[in-house]
Amino acid sequence: MAVGDKAQKRVEVDLGDRSYPVLIGPGASGELVEILPAEARRVAVVTQENIGISLDLGDRMVKVFNVPDGEEAKNFIWLEWLVRGFVEFSMTRSDIVLAVGGGVVSDLAGLAASIYHRGIRVINVATSLLAMVDAAIGGKTAINIPEGKNLIGTFHQPLAVICDTDHLQSLPEEELYCGRGEMAKYAFLGAPDLIDLPLVSQISACVSIKASFVSQDEREGSKRALLNYGHTLAHAIEAQAFGPSSPRIKHGQAVGVGLVFAARLAEKLARIGEKEVAFHRQVVTSYGLDPEIPAWVRRDELVEVMLRDKKVKSGLTFVLDGEDGLEVVSDIDPEVVRSVLDLAP
Ligand SMILES: NC(=O)c1ccc[n+]([C@@H]2O[C@H](COP(=O)([O-])OP(=O)(O)OC[C@H]3O[C@@H](n4cnc5c(N)ncnc54)[C@H](O)[C@@H]3O)[C@@H](O)[C@H]2O)c1
Repeated sequence: MAVGDKAQKRVEVDLGDRSYPVLIGPGASGELVEILPAEARRVAVVTQENIGISLDLGDRMVKVFNVPDGEEAKNFIWLEWLVRGFVEFSMTRSDIVLAVGGGVVSDLAGLAASIYHRGIRVINVATSLLAMVDAAIGGKTAINIPEGKNLIGTFHQPLAVICDTDHLQSLPEEELYCGRGEMAKYAFLGAPDLIDLPLVSQISACVSIKASFVSQDEREGSKRALLNYGHTLAHAIEAQAFGPSSPRIKHGQAVGVGLVFAARLAEKLARIGEKEVAFHRQVVTSYGLDPEIPAWVRRDELVEVMLRDKKVKSGLTFVLDGEDGLEVVSDIDPEVVRSVLDLAP
């Protein structure tokens, strides 16, 4: 990943009177103290112990809520723990939640903020690459239930998003690659050649695409759904990776697999040719990701999980490439999907 871009960039998520900035670059978290609303006297910092980032929050009363590492934190138990903790901390509707972490933290903290007192404000300080290019922006919050990933959630836009690239210094190498899964997705959404750009430019290019999709379609009625490219299979794979004894797969890795699978499905449906499938493989591998379905995945159970996915209206729904670019394709015969799964190496 190229470095060297020291300037900060600012991207606006344009949502009328709920518009907000995404500040990207080294030292961007220094802006936080200015962004915090004056009337917010209490700040509930939701984070994880291993992240260990301290921030200047001025003279506010601060309480830190450490949630567990991994998808296990995105459940009703930790959601309840958080909102009850907010009560104990005497948080009012003027106070603020600060989500300092990756997508797990922003999904959970955002949901807690969205339901506490029927909604209080949240600022996302994205500390993983995946959160910077995707999860922290757009207002989707979520927890998991045993029946599936992200099945419970709300739309609750943050007040601001901070992507301080200095925070990436402590991010484990494998997590950087996971972020690249989502970055690979943007190659098919208008940014085909990010890989050689300096890091701040790569992040801001992804954020700009996401911001524009969110501005046009906040609640995923149409265009925003294209951001789920690669995610139908990814979520089904991740649903098999819950629990302490289950094999683990990171979201970005699952998305890489899902992108290539979606291309193969599109080929099966005669929407694209071999060349486009090869391009998908090439993009995914150029981000250092394995394009193949991991051997531990129970392929025979994937279709059932996909049928339960919240985006399903009838039959199976995938975002697929085609002559006119990406589109949401519904009503796909599950047997066709099964046949592509069986063919997958
Ligand atoms: N809401 C959305 O729009 C959206 C979009 C994409 C993904 N997601 C969700 O995001 C989650 C994945 O996010 P993720 O990849 O950030 O995973 P994550 O939140 O689990 O973070 C990855 C790991 O890196 C650690 N970490 C994060 N920042 C660190 C730092 N600066 N230094 C050291 N360690 C650090 C975390 O503690 C964790 O161990 C999934 O639950 C997915 O469903 C949500």
